[in-house]
Amino acid sequence: MNFNEAMLKLKEYNQEHVLKYYDELDVNEQLELLAQIEATDFSVVDMCTKEDKEVKKGVISPLAAMQLNEIEERKEEFRNAGLEAIKAGKVGAVLLAGGMGTRLGSDDPKGMYNIGITKDVFIFERLISNLLDVVRESSTWIHLFIMTSDKNHDATVKFFKEKDYFGYNEEYITFFMQEMAPAADYSGKVYMEAKGKIASSPNGNGGWFTSMARWGVHDIIKNAGIEWLNIFAVDNVLQRIADPVFVGATILNKAAVGSKVVKKAAPDEKVGVMCLEDGKPSIVEYYELTKDMMEAKDANGDPAYNFGVILNYLFNVQGLMDILNKNMPLHIVEKKIPYIDENANLIKPEEPNGYKFETLVLDMIHLLDSCLPFEVIRDKEFAPIKNKTGVDSVESARELLKQNGVEL
Ligand code: UTP
Repeated sequence: MNFNEAMLKLKEYNQEHVLKYYDELDVNEQLELLAQIEATDFSVVDMCTKEDKEVKKGVISPLAAMQLNEIEERKEEFRNAGLEAIKAGKVGAVLLAGGMGTRLGSDDPKGMYNIGITKDVFIFERLISNLLDVVRESSTWIHLFIMTSDKNHDATVKFFKEKDYFGYNEEYITFFMQEMAPAADYSGKVYMEAKGKIASSPNGNGGWFTSMARWGVHDIIKNAGIEWLNIFAVDNVLQRIADPVFVGATILNKAAVGSKVVKKAAPDEKVGVMCLEDGKPSIVEYYELTKDMMEAKDANGDPAYNFGVILNYLFNVQGLMDILNKNMPLHIVEKKIPYIDENANLIKPEEPNGYKFETLVLDMIHLLDSCLPFEVIRDKEFAPIKNKTGVDSVESARELLKQNGVEL
């Protein structure tokens, strides 16, 4: 894209200020800015001035989960079906590691965080170790796709290389980058974080499958014959990945997606809960649960909205292809965004000063026809690290890892 083309694109969205310092930049900076303008979807900033910024939910009803007792009874049947698919190379794993991890407060990618006490134990290392369990059980290498973002790609790739992929087979690891979304002020003008750089952040975890397409990863999936993709968050250090029992249960249920869930610790626990929305699978956020919904009971007299998601889903690839070009809702989040002021001084605000834009993986589920919520034991599979201390923290995850016999 050249200067004139960039200016035309910016005019269309009232963002000409992006080129204000163009003449002061050196050639490389100019090229970088033009490339950023070309890659940026400015249409998202229209959201800033919309009266109603919330994504509207439809009619919510309960969706029953497959619970531990049934899973235990049919464990061997599920396990065999899962192992068969894994051995046939039909299952891949996708690590969502493009987030900023702001709550943890480290400048490095979240997966590089060292949670060890007497020795080094990196978050990435724990995840690879969990996946290696299944590689051993199935005697099969599982393709692992790692999503990074512009902000952490180089550091992530370098770290894996330095650590020799924690014993994983490099040939089965593919890194790809997610797209970025601009950050804007309340009136919808994008912020500049430097004279030659638009303030931007990763566009949320909902864009992983379209980002894969941009990076040519769909060809790898097709050529390898992968039919199922297990996506998982970077921060849950206990989760089982490509778990044969979960894979088998989802396949045998002919579900478009399987979702690992845990029984809620309390009716008002702050987790998203599996449900139906207008008859299609969906996730209702904790703050959207009404008192009536919290008190509703299923046929057994148990709470009807009782199973929280842990961001570990098994998607059918054909199902994903079918929804590839469908629009996903955009979520708008108020944040503190560093920017340069009219005199080009960098300002780091103490209070939120604008919006970022994200798509969420949970909205993909709602585009699909069927979902199997699959219960796992919380203390064995759910140790998210969001914060340094307190709830969902390095401290709480360490405790759970120790309980599960992991040396730290
Ligand atoms: P979170 O919602 O916890 O966000 O991500 P985060 O960016 O890691 O952390 P905070 O909120 O800034 O503290 C849940 C999962 O989705 C991934 C994260 O890496 C994590 O695995 N994610 C999130 C992405 O891959 N891309 C994104 O744009 C956002």
